[in-house]
Amino acid sequence: MAKRIGILTSGGDCAGLNAVIRAVVQRAVESYGWRVLGIRQGTMGLMARPVEADELDLGVTSSMILRQGGTILGTTNKGDPFAFPMADGRTLDRSNEVIEGCRLLGLDALIGIGGDGSFAILRRMAQQGGINLVGIPKTIDNDLGLTESSIGYDTAVAVATEALDRLQPTAASHSRVMILEVMGRDAGHIAIAAGIAGGADVVLIPEIPWTLAHVKAKIERIKAQGRNFALVVVAEAVKTEEGQAVTSNISAEQLRYGGVGHRVGAAIAGATGAETRVMVLGHVQRGGPPTANDRLLSSAFGVYAVDLIAAGKFDRMVAWRNREIVDVPIAEAIAHYQAVDPNGTLVRTARGLGICLGDRP
Ligand code: F6P
Repeated sequence: MAKRIGILTSGGDCAGLNAVIRAVVQRAVESYGWRVLGIRQGTMGLMARPVEADELDLGVTSSMILRQGGTILGTTNKGDPFAFPMADGRTLDRSNEVIEGCRLLGLDALIGIGGDGSFAILRRMAQQGGINLVGIPKTIDNDLGLTESSIGYDTAVAVATEALDRLQPTAASHSRVMILEVMGRDAGHIAIAAGIAGGADVVLIPEIPWTLAHVKAKIERIKAQGRNFALVVVAEAVKTEEGQAVTSNISAEQLRYGGVGHRVGAAIAGATGAETRVMVLGHVQRGGPPTANDRLLSSAFGVYAVDLIAAGKFDRMVAWRNREIVDVPIAEAIAHYQAVDPNGTLVRTARGLGICLGDRP
């Protein structure tokens, strides 16, 4: 039977979202003869009246959007419908309006592309409103459980690695210690992966407490060995030596990491006398064309998500495990938050390469 499915992107954008949208439309329209409605700005589009959604037809399946960063649907990482911030400072439960939005669109199923925060909201909404939900994992932070990779992560790592490629020659030219602060929210996945791929000397991640004494010893050893520069990667959620997270409050609803790189840079300069420069990489890690790997993951996830709907399997998230796509319960993916394993392969690799992780010289 012909179905009508909705698709939305939720939470922070990343590279690869458009590649998923393309794959979903291709599979649903071309293979199954269904209709696909693209919902604007995540749940905000479902809350709006009239509901903000447009039919996505084969026009979006050209390879043009496959390589395009961002999301053609728009997204939001604020405005939780269960605690929606009102102009007067109160929060209101507007979840029923969002559920009603799905009914108004006449959806048989909804594909949500998000991270753990978005999935928690979408799943609660789906349970409350009897919506047939399928989830596709995306987050540059790569901290969702039960999937080895989420869309956007590979591109973020590639961008951070390229940043190190560009920082190294200028560091060597000026005999400097370069500090690169990368995103990742509470997880250090981007930092450790890019640190290894980009030849960092020091990588600080939130999962491993650090001391300045160890970093100082490493920088001094590099100097004693005759090298005139060093590369340091710092994940944004790393705490200062005093144990403080460096954040800024954008609004009551939004707390953002950012700036610990400057604190680490100043500490290294003070302790070693080295000239330091700090680069906060920020949102360039999320924009731009997706890597080949992210395009592959997005395409495979999109096709599989539509097939799950065809098979009548809901409340499932598509996942990449052991070189295959599988589906797992959304609730379990949220419950198994995936930080960097301090004894895992990448940490062992980094140590094996002599990279200082701040807990030993
Ligand atoms: O979760 C993705 C992410 O890019 C984090 O790595 C980062 O801390 C945060 O989003 C930034 O959010 P915003 O786009 O609201 O500044």
